[in-house]
Amino acid sequence: MRPERTALSVAAPRGQAAGYGRTRPRSRSCSRTCSQCAVRRYEYSGCASFQVSYFAYRDRQLCAESVPLARVAETFGTPCYVYSRAALESAYHAYDQALVRRDHLICYAVKANSSLAVINVLAQLGSGFDIVSGGELERVVRAGGDPRKTVFSGVGKSTAEMRAALAAGILCFNVESESELKRLDHVAGELGKPAPVSLRVNPDVDAGSHPYIATGLKESKFGVAFEDALPLYRSAAAMANLRIIGIDCHIGAQITDVSPVIAALQKLLLLVDRLAAEHINVTQIDIGGGLGIRYRDEMPPSIAVFSQALIACLGDRKQRLLLEPGRSLVGNAGILLARVEYLKHGTHRNFAVLDAAMNDLIRPALYDAWHDIQPVKPRQGLARRYDVVGPICESGDFLGHDRELNLAEGDLVAIMSSGAYGMTMSSNYNTRPRAAEVMVSESEMHLIRERESVAQLLAPECLLP
Ligand code: LLP
Repeated sequence: MRPERTALSVAAPRGQAAGYGRTRPRSRSCSRTCSQCAVRRYEYSGCASFQVSYFAYRDRQLCAESVPLARVAETFGTPCYVYSRAALESAYHAYDQALVRRDHLICYAVKANSSLAVINVLAQLGSGFDIVSGGELERVVRAGGDPRKTVFSGVGKSTAEMRAALAAGILCFNVESESELKRLDHVAGELGKPAPVSLRVNPDVDAGSHPYIATGLKESKFGVAFEDALPLYRSAAAMANLRIIGIDCHIGAQITDVSPVIAALQKLLLLVDRLAAEHINVTQIDIGGGLGIRYRDEMPPSIAVFSQALIACLGDRKQRLLLEPGRSLVGNAGILLARVEYLKHGTHRNFAVLDAAMNDLIRPALYDAWHDIQPVKPRQGLARRYDVVGPICESGDFLGHDRELNLAEGDLVAIMSSGAYGMTMSSNYNTRPRAAEVMVSESEMHLIRERESVAQLLAPECLLP
């Protein structure tokens, strides 16, 4: 058992996010050697503490739980997202158990992976949900999630989305501006149904995230400025159709250090006390999501350590604690399975051209994010250095640069840690049908989303008359 990290480390400098970009220095590695196959065995557990490994080599081939990934590829083809149900459940339990002694609600951030089956597995565990669109609300409802455990975030909620969420009876609107507050009051008045409200406060702390996903800074479009929050709460309290129930923040993503989250929570608590002095009492405090995972060698705090830090900071306050984790629940519960179409060996570079591309997993192209790439059936012999790329007509279409791999055409590879912001950010660029999705549970595999067909892609289109 590896000791959990308890020390608070220094956040990455602004704009240099752990897990993103090439600027991050390499440090400790968490890989171990598997005695059976002499290749690295990974502990894709979703946090820094060692747990059971859900994607590991057995009998010299990479498996999801006890299903060989080669069997998934034979049955459903590639590219294909493969999820481990046990990994998902274990990450959820880690939060739930860490917070067991405190009134809490885990609101899974649906944007990380909005597959109905993923939502359903979490709903069965009692999870709540964080949504950012009417579409996500429909997914939650369709998958058996409880709207009464659902919070609605986002800076641009439309009137139609507000109506749908009010009608569904959601737990709370995380309101991000004065205009939104006024619109919500109006919509709630029309429906004759008071809207439960939290204000998303921007605590102006640096989460050390990649600039595209840092959300808690003054210059970000999210939330209301800390200094504007109090007057805005006062006006919300005076609006006839709003019911103030909470306070909310979300400072960024892939956070590998708990201290900025604690700094944000402390600022929220200051505000909670000032509000209480004015008889505006909030009953829930939502700290958002953002806990990072290990893609390479990051050392994020474990879910338990992260949760304990929040509990300590809250002390004996009675408010219910809400969290909106996305990546830390699903990120390491999924991989992208792909096949090597071609190998191109050149004098300057070698390329492994996969059947998966940036349209399937855009994180490397968009954030310069690093995902491990593992052979499904490792070969003996010398590895070469490959740029692992897709078939899309852009030089930015890569999944990894400079990877030491021993490959042959037709081999299968797994792009690890792809469970979060993989499928949900995929597109049909180059008219590529989106990948299939499979969930493995022990020795069973279930197709949870069929591979798209070109006919489906073209169906909504028509020629001019
Ligand atoms: N709550 C709110 C209000 C959010 O905006 C987000 C993520 C979350 C919760 C969940 O954060 P998580 O626990 O997953 O870090 N596409 C990027 C990540 C964008 C995150 C957007 N907001 C990526 O691939 O890294």
